[in-house]
Amino acid sequence: MSVEILIRPCSLADFERLRQIWELSGIWLGASDTPDELEKLRLQNEDTCLVAVVNREIQGCVMGAFDGRRGLVHHLAVHPDFRGNGIGKILMEKLDRKFREKGVVKYSFWIEADNINAVGFYQHLGYELRDLITMSKTIRE
Ligand SMILES: CC(C)(COP(=O)(O)OP(=O)(O)OC[C@H]1O[C@@H](n2cnc3c(N)ncnc32)[C@H](O)[C@@H]1OP(=O)(O)O)[C@@H](O)C(=O)NCCC(=O)NCCS
Repeated sequence: MSVEILIRPCSLADFERLRQIWELSGIWLGASDTPDELEKLRLQNEDTCLVAVVNREIQGCVMGAFDGRRGLVHHLAVHPDFRGNGIGKILMEKLDRKFREKGVVKYSFWIEADNINAVGFYQHLGYELRDLITMSKTIRE
């Protein structure tokens, strides 16, 4: 299948569709993933929160953020029916270009430990696995 893929910045109105794709993709969603919370991320990172549109419908997305030192990648996902068409790769390439334009030195992301598919995908694209321990504190559920 050859599809025409348009990448554009995400808008507030897209969050409902993004939630569907994330749920179908097994992305863990928590208190930071309501439209209000995501809008805070989007407003600070308008050119790095991206959606992929095929035939006028969103089929993939990635939320990139820059904290002034590091770039962070959240919630890359492609609708299951549209995987294997280069959408994930195009989203990451576009995000990479945007991070470079902003002068980002390094960017990172977390992957659930059992998400072997995502690890393979990212390694294929040239990303390196780091042997780090993640620690966190939940301030509100
Ligand atoms: C990971 C994911 C985003 C990949 O999206 P996709 O659109 O299907 O991937 P693409 O078609 O862009 O693949 C790009 C390249 O990676 C390769 N690739 C894809 N998955 C791979 C894997 N598991 N192992 C090795 N290579 C892989 C493809 O063969 C393709 O190679 P090519 O460019 O040399 O032809 C998609 O599988 C997904 O949404 N998964 C569920 C959500 C998820 O795990 N997100 C990551 C959260 S951290």
